[in-house]
Amino acid sequence: MRHSKRTEILEAKPVNLDGFVEEWPEVGMVAMDSPYDPEPGIRVEQGTVVEMDGKPRAEFDFIDQFIADHAIDADIAPEAMAHSAEHIAHLLIDATVSRQAVLAVVRGLTPAKLLAVVKTMNVVEMMMALQKMRARRTPSNQAHSTSARDNPVQIAADAAEAALRGFRELETTLGVVRYAPLAAIALQVGAQAARPGVLTQCALEEATELELGMRGITGYAETISVYGTEPVFCDGDDTPWSKAFLASAYASRGIKMRFTSGTGSEVQMGNAEGKSMLYLEIRCILVTKGAGVQGLQNGSISCIGVPGAVPAGIRAVLAENLIASTVDLECASGNDQSFSHSDMRRTARLLPQLLPGTDFVCSGYSGVPNYDNMFAGSNLDPEDYDDWNTIQRDLQVDGALRHVPEERILAARAHAARALQAVFAHLELPPVTDKEIEAVTYAHGSQELPLRDVLEDLKAAQSVLDRGITGLDIVKGLEAGGFTEIAESLLTVLRQRISGDLLHTSAILTPEMETLSAVNDANDYAGPGTGYRPSGQRWEEMKRLRHVVSASNPEEEVS
Ligand code: 5AD
Ligand code: CA
Repeated sequence: MRHSKRTEILEAKPVNLDGFVEEWPEVGMVAMDSPYDPEPGIRVEQGTVVEMDGKPRAEFDFIDQFIADHAIDADIAPEAMAHSAEHIAHLLIDATVSRQAVLAVVRGLTPAKLLAVVKTMNVVEMMMALQKMRARRTPSNQAHSTSARDNPVQIAADAAEAALRGFRELETTLGVVRYAPLAAIALQVGAQAARPGVLTQCALEEATELELGMRGITGYAETISVYGTEPVFCDGDDTPWSKAFLASAYASRGIKMRFTSGTGSEVQMGNAEGKSMLYLEIRCILVTKGAGVQGLQNGSISCIGVPGAVPAGIRAVLAENLIASTVDLECASGNDQSFSHSDMRRTARLLPQLLPGTDFVCSGYSGVPNYDNMFAGSNLDPEDYDDWNTIQRDLQVDGALRHVPEERILAARAHAARALQAVFAHLELPPVTDKEIEAVTYAHGSQELPLRDVLEDLKAAQSVLDRGITGLDIVKGLEAGGFTEIAESLLTVLRQRISGDLLHTSAILTPEMETLSAVNDANDYAGPGTGYRPSGQRWEEMKRLRHVVSASNPEEEVS
């Protein structure tokens, strides 16, 4: 067939490199409306849920049992379930109904009922609801700092830049897992070097992740995965109880943590039991709630290609963020793993979280170029910083980032690398050279950096574990190297675990080292003129971009 010129142009568009598939409910390739999803229902006898969503207790799988026993308030469930789905959706979007009043009803809802509620809502209604239901008043953001070569100097410099630009949580992971202790130290030093109080984590196999947290080399944990069907949960040798046990291990040390889940994981792991992705994700959200964990990273996360390929998949991703917030969990709302070649599509996927605001708009904005991103690339990377800042300014919406003049960024990158040099010297780890510091100050990615001796680094990484090095040793190294301010910041971060303040829902540390959480910064949105709105100093900061013409002298730029 002869093609038109227009077809040729459309064929060449990046969006046509993306993958799209038809719905296939039998294997779970359906976003939020499978014919096999159960009908909502509940029966309670003597305070125990004896039937949930059409299934008698004797037929419960372990996820049903955990939810019925730990995530649903059986006392109010019959009354809450008696409301129609439309009525509950109206409570969600009605600005005159308080967040607390919604929570009082939602505590009694089953997974199928929560699904029925969001199925009545379009994306604009979901955004309205999310604006009211997110836990913390002030939105925040999380970035990745990783390196294709696991180069700790790069991880430290990019952590410092990300901190300076506004991120309050930073995450790393590895190409070569054995590098982890060096990457985690680099992330922690870089994070505190530029703007104190940033919390850091290192995504690893769970026992190592817990150990680094307990030692204070990391500040929080996030990749504690839960899944929506029993076979997929069992694939990791886990149960809701083992995950709850792990959660309590973190809590016992006052360490912030959240679970991770997201639509598409069960299909991807081949055991969706014919249910819709969102129904299964709601089960994950309620398992998290039942485990007593304060928050959840969801929004498909590493599985975003799956909902991204089916009709209404991105709507389902917004729905899962909304439901996490609606059951009073902190929500780090995705916009992390890359899923589309199209700039328009990746922006469209971002706006439903950016516009209403969430606790962490991105649960992993890549602070390094996507080729260095060891989480397989992100929806946004450093090349998008100026676009992000411009969107914030255009719409007066706070995505928690800011433009920073280059000289401050260069100074922060160099400062972080020098601090890491001092810490490595103090801990007798392989040296960070002046040449590396110079290179990393001006580099975009790992390709521009001198190669490190990987074998020596790996030996040293093992020695960090063997010698029992802790966060306090990093503090001492910083102090010994003359980096007293960074040492004090890190010590203050570590001290938080004694007060336990970071266990509150949605807790972050401000650069002034105060805890901001749903306890002392509760979302108070109640319609126009209320809730969080960027103003004052923050709005002035948001007006700054790389190029803004001065009003008093059009020949000049302000920055
Ligand atoms: N469900 C559960 N866990 C997930 N992770 C990412 N996406 C999901 C999901 N949809 C977790 C995994 C992974 C880490 C990066 O985040 O543990 O290893
Ligand atoms: Ca993350």
